[in-house]
Amino acid sequence: MKSIKQYQEQFVAYLEHYNRIRSPRNLYDPVQYILKLGGKRLRPTLTLMTADCFEGDVSASLDAALAIEIFHNFSLIHDDIMDNAPLRRGQQTVHEKWGLNTGILSGDAMLIMAYQLFESYNAEQFQQLTTLFSKTALQVCEGQQYDVDFETRYDVTIPEYTKMIEYKTAVLVAAAMQMGAIVAKASEESQKKCYAFGRNLGIAFQLQDDYLDAFGDPETFGKQVGGDIIENKKTYLVLKVMELGSNQNKAKLQALYQNASIDSDQKIAKVLQIFSESGAAEATKQAIESYTQIAFDDLESLDIKPENKELLRSFGAQLMTRTS
Ligand code: IPE
Ligand code: IPE
Ligand code: MG
Ligand code: MG
Ligand code: MG
Repeated sequence: MKSIKQYQEQFVAYLEHYNRIRSPRNLYDPVQYILKLGGKRLRPTLTLMTADCFEGDVSASLDAALAIEIFHNFSLIHDDIMDNAPLRRGQQTVHEKWGLNTGILSGDAMLIMAYQLFESYNAEQFQQLTTLFSKTALQVCEGQQYDVDFETRYDVTIPEYTKMIEYKTAVLVAAAMQMGAIVAKASEESQKKCYAFGRNLGIAFQLQDDYLDAFGDPETFGKQVGGDIIENKKTYLVLKVMELGSNQNKAKLQALYQNASIDSDQKIAKVLQIFSESGAAEATKQAIESYTQIAFDDLESLDIKPENKELLRSFGAQLMTRTS
C-alpha cells in the first residue's frame, strides 16, 4: 500500500495527461479550467485506494477514478449555476467567467467524457461500472432537485434532509469506492461493504460542507462563505435550529430567510449568531463525528488486511479536520 498522498499524486498525474487543449476552445477551455483548479481529489483517491485494498491493479482503476472526478467536476459547474455561486476553489466559477450557456454545454460535454472513460474496460466490468454509474448519476440529479425544492420550504425534516445529502453527495463517494472494488474483482459482499463505508463517510462529508459553508475560513474554504445562507438552503444547521432553538431563535431565523430585501452580510451575521446560540453548530459537529464513526464501524467486517483498514480509517479521520 502507498500513502494517501501517493494515490492522490498518481491520480493527478493521470488527469494532467488526459487534460489537454482541444477545440472548439469555447467548449473545452472551461473543462480544462475546472479540472485544473484542483480540489481535494478525494473521490478518485478513494477509487485507487479501494482497488489496492483488494490487491487489484491500481493502474486499471485510473479510468474509473477519472470518470468519477470528471462527473464530480461537471456536477460542480451545474451546481454553481443553480446556487448562484461566484467562487469555486478560490477562483471564478465557470458561468461567471464564460457565461451561463458555456457552463451548461461544457458541463454536458463532461458528463459524456466521463461515460467515455468506461470504454477501456472489458464487457463484464463495463457493464458493472456503467450500471453503477448511471444509477448514481441519476440519484445525484434527484438529490440536487430536493436541495432546490427545500429552498422554499420551512418544514423539511431530518430524514428528508438526510436522503437529500445521501443522493446529492454521498452516493458518489460510495460509488467511487465500489468502482475500485469492481476493478479489483472483489466479491459482491465486499463491494456492498465498501459502498456502505463510502456512503456514511459521504454523509459526514456533506454535513461538514454545510458547517464550513457557514463557519469556514474564507482564506482556505475556496467558496463564498455564507452562500448557503444567502440561498436559503435547508442545511443541517437550519434544521437543528428548528429542533433545538428557542421560539425566538426559530421566529428570527424564519423571518431572516423570508426577507428577500435584506442585505446579505447582515443576514449572514445574524444567522450565524442563531446557529451558535441555539446549539445547532455544536449539534452539527456531533453529527459529523457520529456518521464518521458509523463509517468506521462498516470497516470492521471488511475482508481486507488490517493495515489497509487503517489507511481507510485515517482517510476518514483526515476529512474531519479539513478546512476546504
Ligand atoms: C464539493 O465537493 C461538493 C460537495 C459534494 C460538497 P468537494 O469538497 O470534494 O470539492 P473539491 O473537488 O475538493 O473542490
Ligand atoms: C453539492 O452540494 C452537491 C453537488 C455538487 C452534486 P453543494 O451545493 O453544497 O456543494 P458546494 O458547497 O457548492 O461545493
Ligand atoms: Mg453549491
Ligand atoms: Mg448545491
Ligand atoms: Mg456546500
